[in-house]
Amino acid sequence: MQKRFWTLVGVLFLGVFAAACGEDPVSPPPPPPPPDPIRAALIDTVRLLADQRNLDPVPSGPVVRSELVTLGRALMFDKILSGNRNIACSTCHLPSFAMGDGRSLAVGEGGAGLGPARTPPAGGFIPRNSPTMFNLHTTQQLFWDGRVEMLDDGSIRTPAGAQLTPAMEAVFEFGAVSALGMFPVASRDEMQGEQGEPGNELGAFADGDLQGLWAALMVRLGAFPAYQVMFEAAYPGTAFADMTFAHAANAIAGFLLSELVFVDTPWDRFLNGDDSQLTNEQLRGAKLFMTVRCMRCHETDSFDDRNGEFKNVATPQLGPGEGDGPGGRDDFGRERVTGDPLERRAFKTRALRNIELTAPYGHAGQFATLEAIVEHYDEIDVRLQNYDVSQVEAALQGTLLNNVSEILATRDTILLPIEFDVIGRDDLVAFLESLTDEAARNLFGVAPATVPSGLTIDN
Ligand code: HEC
Ligand code: HEC
Repeated sequence: MQKRFWTLVGVLFLGVFAAACGEDPVSPPPPPPPPDPIRAALIDTVRLLADQRNLDPVPSGPVVRSELVTLGRALMFDKILSGNRNIACSTCHLPSFAMGDGRSLAVGEGGAGLGPARTPPAGGFIPRNSPTMFNLHTTQQLFWDGRVEMLDDGSIRTPAGAQLTPAMEAVFEFGAVSALGMFPVASRDEMQGEQGEPGNELGAFADGDLQGLWAALMVRLGAFPAYQVMFEAAYPGTAFADMTFAHAANAIAGFLLSELVFVDTPWDRFLNGDDSQLTNEQLRGAKLFMTVRCMRCHETDSFDDRNGEFKNVATPQLGPGEGDGPGGRDDFGRERVTGDPLERRAFKTRALRNIELTAPYGHAGQFATLEAIVEHYDEIDVRLQNYDVSQVEAALQGTLLNNVSEILATRDTILLPIEFDVIGRDDLVAFLESLTDEAARNLFGVAPATVPSGLTIDN
């Protein structure tokens, strides 16, 4: 009797113990993994290198009032901002393609379909790749050539010059990002459309008449009572009649900075102290990235350029071009903004967070995969000479400019000694993949269900 009693107590005790530990108490604990001195040394090295370069996790974005986000979200997805009501910001910045469009060069006004399946109108392609919009709180230079940017004195330089009035600038809460939305609407190929199109009162404004166009956009938006309500909720105390398109652009910026900041990545968690976040391959890649000169340019926490310098990294030129050079099919990049011939073909050193999700790469989408753009840096002059144009869509292959020696004339000399083997390339790619926030893989939640105009939503 007594023996049975104690057996019962024992079973109960073990049961409670097992429940508390969540484990079967009889099987022995798994043996600890054998110590891996190579990995441990690699971790130490990467931590030391990151320390020396002052690398920290990327800070989170600003807190934006929800009414402003709601307005910006609607504007971002509403085709009402385009002359012919047929293209929204989101048509080229699609949630399903990590806020790019998954193609080398964007297809604007008059195109049909979405993403890689979109077919260009007779006018052809937009000259540059549509970039993603992640983590814009870490940059004050926008577009591939930085033509919308905040200068050191805090003023904002844009192609609009004095048409962007001090009163408009005063509305901007997020620096250069607030100014950006003023410009796609004024590009005929992207959103404005042409003169003489029936029903397109925006297309009627002469090139460069931004004030006229912006005012007409506000008339269009004001025709929807729902927009008037949304604008006045986003800017308490200001009547819709007293607002300008700067209020719209600032709201889009509020939306981008509230909804598209993704900084919780294995690399950030590693920097915060968790060794287990990176594989050996990623650790080797991080070491290489920090020692093979990538960080001479991709040098900040988000891996763009700290001093806002633009660089020529000898990427090939294809597509319709920006009107530069003989035949107008070239793109002189930063020189177009600064007038400095030393900055010919210099482009923005892009931030690399979530880079895995935003193929193709380069200012004209010249590289189809992360492997391809990383490999480009291994003996860059040779790679440029042997550039494989078959990786871009068929319609663009014949547009590759034959100008290797001109590109190399201003390519950055920092690049010259960079060399690595196939393992190095794969390690670098693995490291870049550690910069992905899992939450950025599915962005369908950022689109609204409907927009005030009732037009269809591209996402
Ligand atoms: C026809 C396609 C198209 C449309 C429509 C479009 N964009 Fe873009 N977007 C692009 C392209 C292409 C670039 C790069 C242009 C360049 O660098 O010269 C770009 C660049 C940007 C950038 C800069 C990102 C960076 O890191 O430099 C932002 C932000 C942006 N667009 C927001 C918008 C907003 C907001 C709208 C709507 C008001 C919009 N876009 C409409 C194609 C488009
Ligand atoms: C001399 C400065 C410089 C160095 C060094 C450099 N980069 Fe870049 N990187 C740039 C610039 C500028 C661009 C944009 C080039 C273009 O579009 O023509 C770029 C683009 C990229 C892109 C594509 C970004 C996008 O959104 O399309 C990746 C990925 C990249 N670099 C990785 C690297 C790696 C890996 C290394 C080291 C092997 C490296 N970079 C070294 C300046 C540099």
